[in-house]
Amino acid sequence: MTDQQALLATTTSAVRAIIDEKVAELVAAGTARPKVGLVPTMGALHDGHGALFEQARAENDLVIASIFVNPLQFDQPEDYEHYPRDLEADLELVTEYGGDIVFAPSTQHMYPGFPDAPHIRVSAGQMGQMFEGASRPGHFDGVCTVVAKLWNILMPPPPAVFRSYFGRKDAQQLAIVTRMAKDLNIDVKIRPVELVRAPSGLALSSRNVRLDDHGMEKALGLSKALHFLSDQATRGEPLDISAARDMIRAHENVDLDYLEIVDPDTLTPLTEEQLAAPLEREALALVAAWVPPVRLIDNMLLSP
Ligand code: PAF
Repeated sequence: MTDQQALLATTTSAVRAIIDEKVAELVAAGTARPKVGLVPTMGALHDGHGALFEQARAENDLVIASIFVNPLQFDQPEDYEHYPRDLEADLELVTEYGGDIVFAPSTQHMYPGFPDAPHIRVSAGQMGQMFEGASRPGHFDGVCTVVAKLWNILMPPPPAVFRSYFGRKDAQQLAIVTRMAKDLNIDVKIRPVELVRAPSGLALSSRNVRLDDHGMEKALGLSKALHFLSDQATRGEPLDISAARDMIRAHENVDLDYLEIVDPDTLTPLTEEQLAAPLEREALALVAAWVPPVRLIDNMLLSP
């Protein structure tokens, strides 16, 4: 289903009616198990979202985008207030990216009684309190609550299969929603979408435009440190995190927040012994640093 203006629904009943109808049409046309892909977004779409839609389009019969600026995941009220909102432009982009359906509910529709609701929320547990969660209390609980609601609202009826797309750039978010689907037995397959890098190695981010040439040079320290660790892992050498951290700190005014190597499923940091021995399974290197005037995050899967 492509080449048509994406259908807009703003309520749960409207979006479910559309999904039911489209799935029934696909089944009637001979698709035994229609594949339905969801790309959850907060709008303000840009080419970075393009890769999510591209993969969802390639892998599914029906592509749904959700556009909802989720107040529960902002720790600063002014960031929530000032978050860019332009539904008309987003609708055009979803259509351009090949999406079929847009679900764009109001805050009151998602959380009737907000800000006193919702009373029941999902906790991301310890995985939500480390790394990015340490500087943004409650952020990942808010992400889990909205993503669980979106999955419940948008899950297609049988015999369709449901997939949800998340970028590897936000590695902690990806690990947490993957764990949530497993821990809460939600019948959705998480599909990670590869992080996109500039030829220089810099992970693409909308924040990069705020870096001047010097800033860009300093920012490259992050991906260089990650590649250094990745090369060590491939060669079966001990992982020298201290040397990798020094590669980032060597740049003037760069403030390293964290560089850790963790288990990709639980985000538990590897022990000294695990770092000293050749990797037995994939590990994930996570990094965040202030490269004035922006805070950057990056990550890389380390393969044995
Ligand atoms: O990654 C995002 O844009 C948001 O955290 C998400 C997954 C859409 C939930 O609001």
